[in-house]
Amino acid sequence: MTAPPIDGERLLARMAAFAAIGATAKGGVNRQALSPEDRAARALLAGIGAARGFSVHQDAIANLFLRREGRDPALPPLVIGSHLDSQITGGRFDGALGVLSALEVLESLADAGIETPRAVEVVAWTNEEGSHYQPGCMGSMAFAAGAVPAAWHGLTGHDGSRFAEELAATLAALPQAAIRPTGFTVAAYLELHIEQGPSLERAELPVGIVTGIQGTRWFEVTVEGQAAHAGTTALAFRRDPLAAAVAALGRLYGRVMPQDEAARFTVGRMNVAPGVVNAIPERVTFSIDLRHPESPVLDRLEGEIAATLREAAGAAGCTAEMRRLFDMPPARFDAGLVAALEAAAQRSGFAFRSMVSGAFHDALFLARVAPAAMIFVPCRDGLSHNEAEFVPDGNVVAGAQMLRAGVEEILARL
Ligand code: GLV
Ligand code: MN
Ligand code: MN
Repeated sequence: MTAPPIDGERLLARMAAFAAIGATAKGGVNRQALSPEDRAARALLAGIGAARGFSVHQDAIANLFLRREGRDPALPPLVIGSHLDSQITGGRFDGALGVLSALEVLESLADAGIETPRAVEVVAWTNEEGSHYQPGCMGSMAFAAGAVPAAWHGLTGHDGSRFAEELAATLAALPQAAIRPTGFTVAAYLELHIEQGPSLERAELPVGIVTGIQGTRWFEVTVEGQAAHAGTTALAFRRDPLAAAVAALGRLYGRVMPQDEAARFTVGRMNVAPGVVNAIPERVTFSIDLRHPESPVLDRLEGEIAATLREAAGAAGCTAEMRRLFDMPPARFDAGLVAALEAAAQRSGFAFRSMVSGAFHDALFLARVAPAAMIFVPCRDGLSHNEAEFVPDGNVVAGAQMLRAGVEEILARL
């Protein structure tokens, strides 16, 4: 058993170079989708690829591809990658690890002069995080659909920026990247990512082979009441939407996750308007991120959440509206590809476990149009979507080695 040959030092240096783009004081990154920092990271990736002789392409949603040609250019490529955008207070590894490890695999194949039977392409998908513009996974979703949904063009970001303008500026910033159709035939898709949870680290395993992804739904809730004077309005006359929201959320926090350990219920953003000290608010808006591996359970939970919000709002003389922003049904990855990854891990001497991903990933959308699978590596304390996110060097290198082993195994089986 030999570890697949990649240049670990080069990969670690690249991780550091990309972490410097949008670096935050706390050691993380703020490289939001389609921002100047995201553009700088894309330019760096495109420049490295072009210097290595890989062809550089982008599509209408600014997914960025580096292609190393194979023996038969007519065969659909094997695509490997992840995303370069980050959360607002994001870590250095979420997404970047997968893109830069994929680049390292491509370069290591080139260094060794290995001719692959078909092209291998590295991809950086646009706006996986969904923290700048919603929904998340825009790039892979548009790729799988074969077009950019018209509804996205009117979107604005949390900072007031206009999606359509920033997308156009991002595309224009890389004029050397040839425009190709949004969506094309892919032989298989493979993505390396940090686990973003604690199970691999606790089990002291270097590799997870991901068999599927749990479902995610995002909602925007608006509770409307009546603004009134904080000092003069007695309890009986209050229609306080924040009191209603707090009552509903108290019940939901007490029920959704405590009653089902597979469920995830998160409110990550809340806005109170008009937001003054001495007035009862008129309106409260907040997000809900709801996840579960089973669609029927998501349906039931969605109904329960909506009913709880309506009841609590009604009791406070308010109204509640819950709008679904986003529905990513659970995905099961291709059994043949998972088996190929297991064989590759065994051949390379990596102990592993099979697992379902709690986070969503671009692979979820690729799985709709091609055989897809993922490889996870552990991260310290399972921490992610946090500037302190950390992967030890040895695990970074092992992940890229496992990716190379997986690429070789899949190329041999396609
Ligand atoms: C991906 O970033 C997720 O929220 O799962
Ligand atoms: Mn990610
Ligand atoms: Mn993320």
